[in-house]
Amino acid sequence: MIKQAIIPLAGLGTRLLPLTSVIPKELLPINGKPNIQYILDECINAGVKEFIFIISKKKLSIKKYFFNDNLYKKIIKKKKDKRLFEEYKKIKKYKKMIKFVYQNKPKGTGDAVLKCQKFIKNKYFLMLLPDDLIIRNNCSKEMIRLHKITNGSIIATKRVERKSVSRWGILSIKNKKKNYFQINDVIEKPSIKKAPSNFAIIGRYILPTKIFGEIKKLKPGQGGEIHITDAIRSLIRKKNKFYGNIFTGKYLDCGTLSGYINSGIQIFKGK
Ligand code: G1P
Repeated sequence: MIKQAIIPLAGLGTRLLPLTSVIPKELLPINGKPNIQYILDECINAGVKEFIFIISKKKLSIKKYFFNDNLYKKIIKKKKDKRLFEEYKKIKKYKKMIKFVYQNKPKGTGDAVLKCQKFIKNKYFLMLLPDDLIIRNNCSKEMIRLHKITNGSIIATKRVERKSVSRWGILSIKNKKKNYFQINDVIEKPSIKKAPSNFAIIGRYILPTKIFGEIKKLKPGQGGEIHITDAIRSLIRKKNKFYGNIFTGKYLDCGTLSGYINSGIQIFKGK
């Protein structure tokens, strides 16, 4: 059963500067709702009961967003605003579900995952990268379904344009079925020449606790960071089963300014 989700939130968000010099990108509103809330709602609808947020001291406003009870209480008392009351109820629900761990130096997704080790209770857990929104169909739900069928680890994937493969982790595939395939290998941001396919990793993973041991053995990879992709690669080489879930929802990349703007438009249109 997948009951816990970890969310790395310590990144600097340099692609969205200057906005991110004062607001963490995960709190930037997309059609009136902070990015992170889309991620939380997707997980909760998929049955997740607990979140581990990996933040940094520079991003404490993420914690504040969920822990500002006194402000709500005071204003609701004075104003009896129904909308505000509904929002407060939501925030209270999220607050009960979130734990925080700290990653003060952005040393990569692998390092972020490792910070959560002592909190993980079951054999598998979910990880979501908040830059990647998937709307219309619940991707986490689809992945949990595939995990139940295969008993293996799962990565969300979709085909991307060949010329853009060096922007992503890319999967080498075997035994392709309609909506999923087995993963033979993964390569972080390969050149077009070295890319084994154009199936890209999109930020959703169901990972086994075995991954912690592999992360500890890693040396910094691309860009001097510890990449989760490299730990996954080691597990696949040791014959652990990983599957690519070709998700059916619509992918929105919120990590760049144009992607962020477009996400708001798409979500608005979809209403
Ligand atoms: C990360 C992962 C990459 C994945 C991507 C999806 O890269 O390292 O494998 O394809 O997320 O968004 P980043 O976006 O942090 O550069």
